[in-house]
Amino acid sequence: MNTHELIDTARELVAGDKGLLAMDESNPTCNKRFAGLGIPQTEQARRAYRELIVTTPGLGECINGAILFDETIRQQKKDGTPFVKAISDAGIIPGIKVDSGAKDMAGFPGEKITEGLDGLRERLADYSQMGVRFAKWRAVFAVGDGIPSRACIEVNAQILACYAALCQEAGLVPIVEPEVLMEGEHTLERCRNVTEEVLRTVFSQLYTQRVLLEGLILKPNMVLPGLTCLKQEGVDEVADATVSCLLRAVPAAVPGIAFLSGGQSPELASARLNAMNLRFKSRLPWALAFSFSRAIQQPALEIWRGQDANVSAAQQALYHRASCNRAARRGEYNAAMERT
Ligand code: G3H
Repeated sequence: MNTHELIDTARELVAGDKGLLAMDESNPTCNKRFAGLGIPQTEQARRAYRELIVTTPGLGECINGAILFDETIRQQKKDGTPFVKAISDAGIIPGIKVDSGAKDMAGFPGEKITEGLDGLRERLADYSQMGVRFAKWRAVFAVGDGIPSRACIEVNAQILACYAALCQEAGLVPIVEPEVLMEGEHTLERCRNVTEEVLRTVFSQLYTQRVLLEGLILKPNMVLPGLTCLKQEGVDEVADATVSCLLRAVPAAVPGIAFLSGGQSPELASARLNAMNLRFKSRLPWALAFSFSRAIQQPALEIWRGQDANVSAAQQALYHRASCNRAARRGEYNAAMERT
């Protein structure tokens, strides 16, 4: 493990006012999003869509790193340029999702364990040869009556730490993504408590498994009320709850926190990230950045709809969302940006 390289890469991923672009949807997830818009669910369509993303003019002005899926990392642009090269040429660090998905947890109805550790050491070596410098692994925690259980939290935390240690051994920066899901009637306070317990357990395991905290990025959920909770707090209350939770649970040695969007609207995700940076940035030990998938991509996908004629307009929409989130990192995002 080259400690200096890991630390440098982790810092680069959250440097300045840029963030990460998650374009690592698995084929079933990507197909589901395509199906909703009448786009064919084929390898060619997925390739064309990913080419639209990586060739978006100016993307590197807002994005430090892009997380790819295994299929995408093996694909090329129409002119034969590998996507990894196209991304690197745009000044963006290529990364890769390496978990193989969240599966039902035996004996714990409604809870999931993320799989993919078998053969991971070898896969990480292969990906590193292909030019990637960081990886991502997502664990999910549903909130409901009696869940998440201690067992679900502990086992996923152990697996996340094991993945992170293997990444660092291979010279790749691990993005550690424990996601407390938005679905449910739970309150903001419940989400804060669950998120804090999950993060404390994850960092305890990272420490136990000798993961270098300076050489990883945390990708958590924001602290939010459940989607069907009657009380939906405002942007500032969400920012306060999220930052106070993170301050209690995330060691200062971690260089950056890059949020997932989790199904928030693109505008709300930008506004909430903005409020956190506006109110707290100068007092925080880590950078607060973004690693959104839907909150950057969804408007572009809805414009593209699989049609070549829509590529340019879709790219403009993608760039717009990326630049709104860059402004949110500076605490300079505002609703007027949505009308320009
Ligand atoms: O694993 C999920 C992605 O990396 C983040 O996706 O921003 O749509 O929640 P999202």
